[in-house]
Amino acid sequence: MSGKLCDKLKNLSLYPMHMPGHKRNTDICGDFLPYDIDITEITGFDDLHRASGVIDDIQRRLAAFYGAKKSFLLVNGSTCGIMAAVVALCSFGDKIIAARNCHRSVYKAIELYNLSPTWVTPPLDTQTGIFTSVTAECIEKAIEHAPDAKAVIITTPTYEGAVSDTEKIAKVCEKHNIPLICDEAHGAHFPLFYGASAVGDISVTSLHKTLPCLTQVACLNIFSDKVNTERIAETLQMFETSSPSYVLMASADSCMTLLENSGKELAQRHTQRLEHFYKAAESLKHLHIKNSENCDKSRIVICCENTDISGRDLFECLRERHGIECEMASMRYAVALTSICDSDEGLLRLENALAAIDKDLHKVQCTPLSEICAPNVCKTAYQAQKCEKMLVPLNESIGKACGEYVWAYPPGVPVVAPGEVITAGAVQSILEMRRAKLNVISHAEEKILILK
Ligand SMILES: Cc1ncc(COP(=O)(O)O)c(C=O)c1O
Repeated sequence: MSGKLCDKLKNLSLYPMHMPGHKRNTDICGDFLPYDIDITEITGFDDLHRASGVIDDIQRRLAAFYGAKKSFLLVNGSTCGIMAAVVALCSFGDKIIAARNCHRSVYKAIELYNLSPTWVTPPLDTQTGIFTSVTAECIEKAIEHAPDAKAVIITTPTYEGAVSDTEKIAKVCEKHNIPLICDEAHGAHFPLFYGASAVGDISVTSLHKTLPCLTQVACLNIFSDKVNTERIAETLQMFETSSPSYVLMASADSCMTLLENSGKELAQRHTQRLEHFYKAAESLKHLHIKNSENCDKSRIVICCENTDISGRDLFECLRERHGIECEMASMRYAVALTSICDSDEGLLRLENALAAIDKDLHKVQCTPLSEICAPNVCKTAYQAQKCEKMLVPLNESIGKACGEYVWAYPPGVPVVAPGEVITAGAVQSILEMRRAKLNVISHAEEKILILK
């Protein structure tokens, strides 16, 4: 643990007559959890919501790392940064352009502020079921449809590592004077590997997902003068705790120190590991690793379409037989998340496990999945959530207005959202996801909430 905040925490000697109630007493609490550095905003330790001291020092280093004009350190994950960014740029009832594969935090911000979204659905790879990148052309079309939208928000990279051409998209947004928010939750490590972060006006990124940082630590970066920094600071106060954890903030401090001192070297070593892995994976006969130009190579996406194993079964097999817990599984793929903290042995274990599984697989011809259609909307999510609802069997819901979000988590992209008309395709997708044993989040297994 190192950095200015970390040093101050290590050297704390005053008796704590303040929160938290454990008083850093490791004799009583034990030293398994970091009680000894868990404090509140005591003298000399700055204030996350008005940072000017040791916390601002971390924010300045984050801004340097991401090439931002200003960075806000977040302790409530990218979730709070995304919601704060949307609410800062939009007023109640405004229009917004959003990628359909956005995270649920975007859907929740849209619901909270009664926004009317114009959805941009990235093309689906119908073999694997993976959303590909959002194109500048799609954004241009969406802006033609909603020229008075107050913001554009896209996810790049996605859960599966698909990267959009943010430079091109930012130019389109700039031309129409609409600010661009990039949900870069999965791309905190990008400056280390690819030299640049997403451009646009705001990016929100989860340090905890791909960098050595404790869970919940994220940051919001501002890149342009179009964004009112004060307004972002205000909206962050709506979504972020007033008691930010110093343990979490110290982990951001420590993470930045590590990256400043040895980030390049660690990234280089990991790149070599990945190169070795991707080369070895070329000899797989049935499984294949997604490896295209515009995808993040540190996100290993193991595709199993056209084989007699599902993504979920592959996930279970890696877990039960090879001792490898992956990040997520979908119907036709599983995702292994790697980082600079991986070991050569870890990647080698995955390489050997995949070779062993691949040996026993057989070819099966899979049918292409259906493209995702733009939803037919009868009410905004805000209006729909205020309506009376009732549960009906899935097969009786077609053509009715939906009263809930139904999504497989992760990645948490809804098949149908409140206020949208339920289609036969949506019902079929829900049934398929359940059959594939995905973690489908909804009110009831074989029923769905509709508006009365
Ligand atoms: C694309 C995307 N955006 C945002 C988030 C939210 O990030 P956090 O967990 O840091 O709040 C997630 C979480 O999985 C995500 O997948």
